[in-house]
Amino acid sequence: MIMVLLSVLLAVSAALLSPRLAGASTELQSVLKNTHGGNEYGYPTDFTRGIMPIPVHSHNDYWRDIPFFTGLSKGCVSTEADVWLYNGTLYVGHDESSLTEERTLESLYINPMLDVLKRQNPQTPFVTSPTKNGVFDTTTAQTLYFFIDVKTAGPETFQAVIAALEPLRQEGYLTTLTKNQTVTSGPITVIGTGNTPLNMVAPVADRDYFFDAHLDALKEDTQITSLISPIASTSFGQTVGRVSYGTDGTVLSDEQLETLRAQIKLANERGIGARYWETPYFPIRTRNAIWQILLQEGVALLNADDLDAVAAYF
Ligand SMILES: *[C@@H]1O[C@H](CO)[C@@H](O)[C@H](O)[C@H]1NC(C)=O
Ligand SMILES: *[C@@H]1O[C@H](CO)[C@@H](O)[C@H](O)[C@H]1NC(C)=O
Repeated sequence: MIMVLLSVLLAVSAALLSPRLAGASTELQSVLKNTHGGNEYGYPTDFTRGIMPIPVHSHNDYWRDIPFFTGLSKGCVSTEADVWLYNGTLYVGHDESSLTEERTLESLYINPMLDVLKRQNPQTPFVTSPTKNGVFDTTTAQTLYFFIDVKTAGPETFQAVIAALEPLRQEGYLTTLTKNQTVTSGPITVIGTGNTPLNMVAPVADRDYFFDAHLDALKEDTQITSLISPIASTSFGQTVGRVSYGTDGTVLSDEQLETLRAQIKLANERGIGARYWETPYFPIRTRNAIWQILLQEGVALLNADDLDAVAAYF
């Protein structure tokens, strides 16, 4: 049996190598071209196949031509929506002038997320118990951080956010805290920021939303734990001040690096991930040097506006 297989294999490889069969490669090319899209060449969860997650926050995601999906296509594990509450509806946009009837939290984020997660968690005869795959087909356990930046009055708006998450909640797609002690990672981890009131998050023992604490104030805010704030953020510029690319190739002074290092270390010791916004985006070598330092020092997420550049960087 083995001998037969072996001789078949040898015959096949000889045939493939033989110049007399050069026509076969044209045929093969034709097969490759024409089978594309056939049922047997797709699989249920292939929507995000091949995308490698990168530790990047798609900053001002709602500004992109196609919010959510663009960041997803680059592998960003974190996204963001600014929300405004008017007459019971949460609209998404950077300021009042950019809001429209159509651009809502539901239409731009909740529904697309549900759609992707339903594709990643198909119900077929082969799946015998419910799955909780995340949005990335390559790394199904990877959660997607979803920062919701509350722009209008905190208590009312965040209450509406909690209600708006219901479709994701019902499917079991949210990361949860139970009994104030156990975090169960789910496909989407919601983190309230902007006007989100800390007192609508921290005291709640059973919830599926978290709080973006001030990274620069963690030392004083000793009550902030990773159960409240899986990620804490602050402004890069306010933390380290101005940076410039030195003639010796360094971009931060020893003092600046020390400040950054201490802040990230303190957060990480408490199980809290660090994120800096307003990192320099120009000149490019300064931007890249800062990205490298931040990753080296252990930030959880890089904040990026130019997703093509950051994807290429990784
Ligand atoms: C909210 O409702 C009021 C009363 O119906 C209406 O006048 C107003 O234009 C609405 N605002 C928005 C942003 O839809
Ligand atoms: C949950 O834990 C937080 C942080 O330790 C605490 O402030 C809060 O009071 C606790 N909530 C309940 C309901 O026990």
